[in-house]
Amino acid sequence: MTLLSKVQDFWERNPLWTGESAFEPGSLAFFEEHRNIYLKDCFAGQFDLRFLPPPRKEGQKMRVLDLGCGVGFWTAEFAMRGLGNLEAADLTENALKITGKRLATYGVKAILAQENAEKLSYEKETFDHVNCQGVIHHTPETSKAISEIARV
Ligand SMILES: C[S@@+](CC[C@H](N)C(=O)[O-])C[C@H]1O[C@@H](n2cnc3c(N)ncnc32)[C@H](O)[C@@H]1O
Repeated sequence: MTLLSKVQDFWERNPLWTGESAFEPGSLAFFEEHRNIYLKDCFAGQFDLRFLPPPRKEGQKMRVLDLGCGVGFWTAEFAMRGLGNLEAADLTENALKITGKRLATYGVKAILAQENAEKLSYEKETFDHVNCQGVIHHTPETSKAISEIARV
């Protein structure tokens, strides 16, 4: 088993917050609890708008990737703020399943894809902005992930 497949196996069995929460993963209560904790712990109570991609010219749609989306906190926050052309990717199927439920729960959309941050399938310069929070220190080859983020 490679180190990457061990990482994948770990997150497949333990999607973010599923170990801490008493609520069913993918339920409204689970998402609300996770969101409240995230906002409280990382943003002192309120989403910090400086994390949004810098605005483009009027009418220009941005293509944004949330890489290593986990259970979809960032994807949903971006989508709820009207970011068009939003994509979310993760190494694991379970993260994508839960992110899909999160988006449906809040009535927003993004394209979801299973991807390895160390070897992304996208063409170079596909995105205007890549959001990648709490991910690269989990992948075995951090420098490969950084190069891939810069490439796409
Ligand atoms: C700590 S969670 C962070 C989730 C989310 N970004 C957030 O801030 O809530 C780490 C996530 O990174 C994903 N991940 C780890 N290595 C990855 C890789 N090489 N490619 C894509 N996703 C990866 C895991 O599957 C997991 O969902």
